[in-house]
Amino acid sequence: MRSVLLAAGAALLGVAQSLNVLMTNDDGFGTANIRELYKQMSALGHNCYIVASVTDQSDVGGRVEFTTSPKLLVDGEWGIVKAGAPSLGTDPNDSHIWYYNGTPATQVLVALDYVLPTFANFDIPDLVISGPNFGWELGPFLYTISGTVGATYAAIERGIPAIAFASGNDVPIPYYWVNATTTVGLQDPATITARLAASFIQSMIDKAAGSRVLPKGYGITINLPHITSYTSDECTNPPFVLSRMAGNMSTDKAMYDSSTGLFNYESGGVPAMRQCRNGNCSLPGEVDVLTSGCKSSVTVFTLDYDISDNRVCVNITDLTAVTLDEHAEHSGHFGSDFEHHTRCLFVVLK
Ligand SMILES: *[C@@H]1O[C@H](CO)[C@@H](O)[C@H](O)[C@H]1NC(C)=O
Ligand SMILES: *[C@@H]1O[C@H](CO)[C@@H](O)[C@H](O)[C@H]1NC(C)=O
Ligand SMILES: *[C@@H]1O[C@H](CO)[C@@H](O)[C@H](O)[C@H]1NC(C)=O
Ligand SMILES: *[C@@H]1O[C@H](CO)[C@@H](O)[C@H](O)[C@H]1NC(C)=O
Ligand SMILES: *[C@@H]1O[C@H](CO)[C@@H](O)[C@H](O)[C@H]1NC(C)=O
Repeated sequence: MRSVLLAAGAALLGVAQSLNVLMTNDDGFGTANIRELYKQMSALGHNCYIVASVTDQSDVGGRVEFTTSPKLLVDGEWGIVKAGAPSLGTDPNDSHIWYYNGTPATQVLVALDYVLPTFANFDIPDLVISGPNFGWELGPFLYTISGTVGATYAAIERGIPAIAFASGNDVPIPYYWVNATTTVGLQDPATITARLAASFIQSMIDKAAGSRVLPKGYGITINLPHITSYTSDECTNPPFVLSRMAGNMSTDKAMYDSSTGLFNYESGGVPAMRQCRNGNCSLPGEVDVLTSGCKSSVTVFTLDYDISDNRVCVNITDLTAVTLDEHAEHSGHFGSDFEHHTRCLFVVLK
């Protein structure tokens, strides 16, 4: 019944492609943003599965961690599933919504290698969507730390296009706190955030016209502004601005407290590297986009982390001092050839 209704809805909207979509996040499977985006993407006619953490798993980057307990030792977030339930299972009300007790990158692996091939009508999703996160993930420092983004590169490494979303509304709420209207008569910020995300994704799908949404190795990270619809319509329809990750950015600072002997962090306390090496250096940094008003940043990234600038010579003379394990496959030859041919990591081209 469900798929018939969805197909009819898709036909009315004139949607050509119905994609198989895996959705995840780092705030957990019961939070409002992912559930609202799941509703919007399903309403657009896509076949969506959520596989996301049973608890909040923020700030763990791309770490993979499988639980060692077959059952949950504590209640899942918001008490949606209780202690004693299996470590992997479905939402009580929706068989397309799964939770697993692990980090966000782990969700992608569990989904691709077990949940989807076993329980869905497809094995490999056409697209992985992560988020929208509650709270921004701006700049390379947060790209590395964010569990939301960590889930995307787990997918991109498997050749699957992936898009991460983050929102300036940074207090996670459960899905059942989303109201049809706020006290000022506007949609809930989670609904608006999801609508903006879904419209971006759908325009990418339309543009791809049946081929991959993104080339292999590429991903997109999008930061949406703080949606003001709890109190006003001041920021409810932000434009998307093409941006770059390495712009005017900062990193955290370690703050030593001599009274406790402990450290804490000062968020964004240090200006960071502002060197443009890859991509279009004329694009604005995503920090500047988000701090300059009601706009969303759209940054395209690739997992080819190797430097693209072939004019730079990085000397590697110290490598000759490295003793290579002769039994390790390839390493002996690699070392001697390397030393013999060049001391530069890149050939300097004219
Ligand atoms: C499942 O749906 C029912 C009825 O809509 C609702 O009362 C209940 O709270 C839902 N359960 C969860 C865990 O959300
Ligand atoms: C939704 O409305 C209920 C009252 O009906 C309120 O308690 C709740 O805080 C509202 N949710 C949000 C996110 O404002
Ligand atoms: C960099 O960002 C900081 C904080 O947002 C701002 O005060 C400063 O003006 C920015 N610098 C440039 C060069 O844009
Ligand atoms: C680089 O970005 C600038 C600013 O958005 C734009 O005008 C220009 O066309 C871009 N260049 C390329 C090669 O995409
Ligand atoms: C690398 O070593 C060469 C020769 O010793 C030297 O001329 C060159 O400046 C060095 N390059 C860098 C980037 O340090």
